[in-house]
Order: sequence, then C-alpha cells, then structure tokens
Amino acid sequence: MPSVAPPRVVNITDLRRIAKRRLPRAVFDYIDGGADAEVTLGENCRVFDAVTFRPRHAVAVPRCDLGTTVLGTRVEMPILLAPVGSSRMFYPRGEEVAARQAGTAGTIYVLSTLSGCRLEDVKQATSGPAWYQLYLVGGLDAARAAIDRARAAGFSALVVTIDTPVSGLRERDVRNGTKELLGRGASMIRFLPQFLARPRWLVDFLGDGGLMNFPNVVPPGQGPHPYADITVALEQTTVTWKDFDWIRQAWGGPVVVKGVLTGEDASRAVDAGAAAVVVSNHGARQLDWVSPTLRALPEVVAAVNGHAEVLLDGGIRRGADVAKALCLGAQAVLVGRAYAYGLGAAGGPGVARAIEILRTDLVRTLKLLGCASVADLDRSYVDVPFDWTREHVLPSLART
Ligand SMILES: Cc1cc2nc3c(=O)[nH]c(=O)nc-3n(C[C@H](O)[C@H](O)[C@H](O)COP(=O)(O)O)c2cc1C
Repeated sequence: MPSVAPPRVVNITDLRRIAKRRLPRAVFDYIDGGADAEVTLGENCRVFDAVTFRPRHAVAVPRCDLGTTVLGTRVEMPILLAPVGSSRMFYPRGEEVAARQAGTAGTIYVLSTLSGCRLEDVKQATSGPAWYQLYLVGGLDAARAAIDRARAAGFSALVVTIDTPVSGLRERDVRNGTKELLGRGASMIRFLPQFLARPRWLVDFLGDGGLMNFPNVVPPGQGPHPYADITVALEQTTVTWKDFDWIRQAWGGPVVVKGVLTGEDASRAVDAGAAAVVVSNHGARQLDWVSPTLRALPEVVAAVNGHAEVLLDGGIRRGADVAKALCLGAQAVLVGRAYAYGLGAAGGPGVARAIEILRTDLVRTLKLLGCASVADLDRSYVDVPFDWTREHVLPSLART
C-alpha cells in the first residue's frame, strides 16, 4: 500500500495524486469530475481564496477546542464525512473502511443510499455516530424499507438529498465509457485497458466480489438493486417537498435536507420540518454554473435565522476552508472528495490521513487566528469581498 505519511503526503492534493495512480481512470474521474464544463467544480474551491482572515495576534492559545455539537450529537471536530456513493469501488468494503475512520476521529459518517456495503455492517464498523442519506431510488417501498433498517441499525439522522432529479452530465464518465462498461456488452471492450493498467486495484476489486450492487436499495420481493440501471432508477423517483411529510413520519427522528443553495429553498426546508440543512451543490456534480457553496452560505444562514442548523459542503480541501465556513455561519462542514481521495489512495490509512490533515490544519489556523475554540469563530475573523455584503435575502424570506 502506498505510504501516505509526510513528506509524501502533506496535503489533500497529494492524496489525490496517489489516488490517481492507484485507480483506473474511470473510477478516479468518477470521484474527481464534475458536471458539464466543471465551472462550479473549480469555483467551489476557488471561492475560499476570496475570503481572507483577520487574525488577533499576541494572543496565547495553548489549547484549541475543535469540539462541537451537530443535531445534539457531540463530535470531536466540525468535519463530517459526506455521503459518497460507490465508495466500495474505490477500495474493498470502502464504506465500512471510511466509517471506521470517522468513528476513530470522533465524528459522523454519512452513508449514501448508493453504497456497496449493507447499512447494518457500516453502522457496526464505526464506534461513532452515523447518518443515513436517502434517495428514493427503487421506489417508495424500497425507501421505506431502508428507513426502517437505518432506524433499527442505529443511524441517528436521515439526510434527504434534494438536488438529483436527474443525474448531472459528467462528461468524463461519458468519455471513459462508464455506460458501456456497466452495460457489459461488446461495446465495453475498448474501455477495458484502463483497468488492466491498474493491476493492484483490479486484484482488490475482484477480491471484493467485483462490481457491487446496492444492498440498501431492495424493492419488496426483489433482491438488491443492480449497479447497471441506477441512473434510470434515480430519475424515476424525484423527491419533492410533499414527500417530507411521510419521510418525517416514517423516520421519526431528525431530518437533514441536503442540496440547499438559496434562501428560498432554505425556508422551504424549514417549513418541511428540517432539523438541519446542508448548503451543497453535490460537489458540483449536478447543475453546473450554480453558486459555489461558500458564496451561498450567508444567504441561507440569514433565511434560516436559527430555525435549523446550517452545514456546508463543497470544495473543502484545507483546515482553513473549514474555519472560513464556520466564520460565515456553518455549524460544521462535510467533506466528500477530501476523504474519497484518501480511500482511493490507500484505504483506511488514506482516510485517516485526510482527516488528520484537515484537523491539524484547523488547529494551526485557530492558533494563528488567536481563537481558542471553533465555537468562537465568527464574521469578525474574516473579510469577505465587498459585493458579498449586499443584503441578498428579501425581508420576507428571513424567518422570524
Ligand atoms: C464520488 C462522489 C459520490 C457522491 N455520491 C453522493 C451520494 O450518493 N449522495 C449524496 O447525497 N451526495 C453524493 N456526493 C456529494 C457529496 O455528498 C458532497 O456533497 C460533495 O462531495 C461535497 O463536495 P467536495 O467533494 O468538494 O467535498 C458524492 C460526491 C462524490 C465526489
């Protein structure tokens, strides 16, 4: 297994580079790529550069408190692992491997509906809390069955993703022959050499049972949903605000709405009973040319006005990014690619290294800011571009 220790791996970009070497192109690009022209993909990261710090110097901060609570659950750091579908393709039993590392770090793992490991096994694998991310894929009865299983297994919140009425166009997937490969017909043959070029991954993949299916998408009377037709299945059951009534009743616990980018949708989510919203553009994998998430955060925070917790994901690659999101009102962040690169690079140690990089970055950033606790981070620690300070939220949108 490749080393992920320094000096080989100093930051998340280093993990990305190693993942690129271990994974076949189609798998690496599935993680790395975004929708259409990948404009928002770049912006999600770049936007953090537009926010600059206002440190308080000559302040001794011998200890930093990274702990916070999310939906009443104590976490050791304000960084959660986002739902990342098909993680089992990146590394054998990938979801369990990542969840275990989240638990070790004292944080929450969010399991995607589109995972290759059974949700019960993933919950067992972590010593920490876990949330379940719901797609209505496979139909409402399959979703109800997954909700019941997730509750029985001990998942403590249900994350409903609202930004996938269809799958975004990921041009890299088209070029890499993802559709042909999943179709398993003769047309796949010309796309096979990319796998033969990664023999170590191939051995792992075959040893783990080859192409996964979806053991948490089980329509009544049927077996687990096969991998191949998942894109079509996703389009057949779009979640709408009306669904939140039955989802809340079926779940009976806190519901998180993931995929909010405007004050209007934030308000709708609160009306639909959300305990938290995630400001997210799905890692720029769905609609291109939407706002980078950090840019959308102040509008959402203002619209929610304390009626739900606000989380953010998208573009987080450094601890400084986490600090900036917290300064602008996020309670915590989720990271997707940052840990997925680690998983693809080196399995558990890679995920652990990704978490460690973000954690030590955040501690150092807090000390340099002269701030002893993530709970104390606020707008006074950052400058934002002048045009960000305009009031975007119509008075009627802000919750009272
Ligand atoms: C490979 C990959 C698969 C993903 N699968 C899901 C998924 O199944 N469900 C979901 O709600 N979000 C999914 N996402 C989006 C992430 O949860 C998260 O919103 C995004 O990765 C955050 O951006 P970042 O990768 O820049 O951290 C996926 C993201 C990636 C990179």
